[in-house]
Amino acid sequence: MRFVLSRLRGRSAGQVLQLIVKNIRHAIAGLSPERRARRIADLAFDRRWGTETSRSVSIHELGIARSRMAQCNRYDPSSAGMLTDPLAALDLDPTAHDFIDYGAGKGRVMMLAMELGFARVTGIELSTRLCEVARANIERFRSQHIGMPAGRVIGADATMFVPSGRDIIAYFYNPFDATVMTVVRHRLESALRHRTGRVVVIYANPEHGAVFDAPGWSHGPSTPGVATFIAGAESFGRQALAA
Ligand SMILES: C[S@@+](CC[C@H](N)C(=O)[O-])C[C@H]1O[C@@H](n2cnc3c(N)ncnc32)[C@H](O)[C@@H]1O
Repeated sequence: MRFVLSRLRGRSAGQVLQLIVKNIRHAIAGLSPERRARRIADLAFDRRWGTETSRSVSIHELGIARSRMAQCNRYDPSSAGMLTDPLAALDLDPTAHDFIDYGAGKGRVMMLAMELGFARVTGIELSTRLCEVARANIERFRSQHIGMPAGRVIGADATMFVPSGRDIIAYFYNPFDATVMTVVRHRLESALRHRTGRVVVIYANPEHGAVFDAPGWSHGPSTPGVATFIAGAESFGRQALAA
């Protein structure tokens, strides 16, 4: 009880209520047969590669500043289908794209992207603790894949990261609130004004998908629980570079 009270100290009634609703929703979702099947697949991934990506990490265990907690979501791993299903629906070539996982957690999605052969794989993660876990996981994973290029884990707030790839897949598993998402969208638009030809956003559990109902963005195909959004350089006053 003392533990719970210490976690709630300093929060407004609204923030406490928000936290309670979030945790109840998470617990209910965890009971579904689909979620149980996913958990089994998650564990199989870790058993196969000797990684640790399956255990959820609460916001309080992330080791981030209290002032940031209201804006960010806990760590939960994506299941493989959350990435591979939208990629199949989009019908695009991973080798021609850079991949960025915003809120990379323990690196699960980065490893899936590396396995799929993306040109460059980058993960941005706010929690220093999770960055360390992700780096160790990726090292172990790569040691079992001869010649696999390294993935880059950047310990930073997503709002500070300046994307620069030519064609970018930006992956989000509902990592943060609409305010942070809007800043990240502006960063992606800035990339489109400079060097980037096209950005494809894959947004799992798209709680703040409305952020992409913005000029220059269109909706791509959606798969269960995942939305996609697409923007090209031409919508931001630039011709995309020829292939
Ligand atoms: C739901 S997890 C997703 C993990 C991973 N992308 C996956 O799909 O397996 C969300 C992650 O976003 C991170 N996060 C939240 N706010 C962030 C921010 N402002 N900048 C970077 N990472 C953030 C959290 O620490 C957490 O690890």
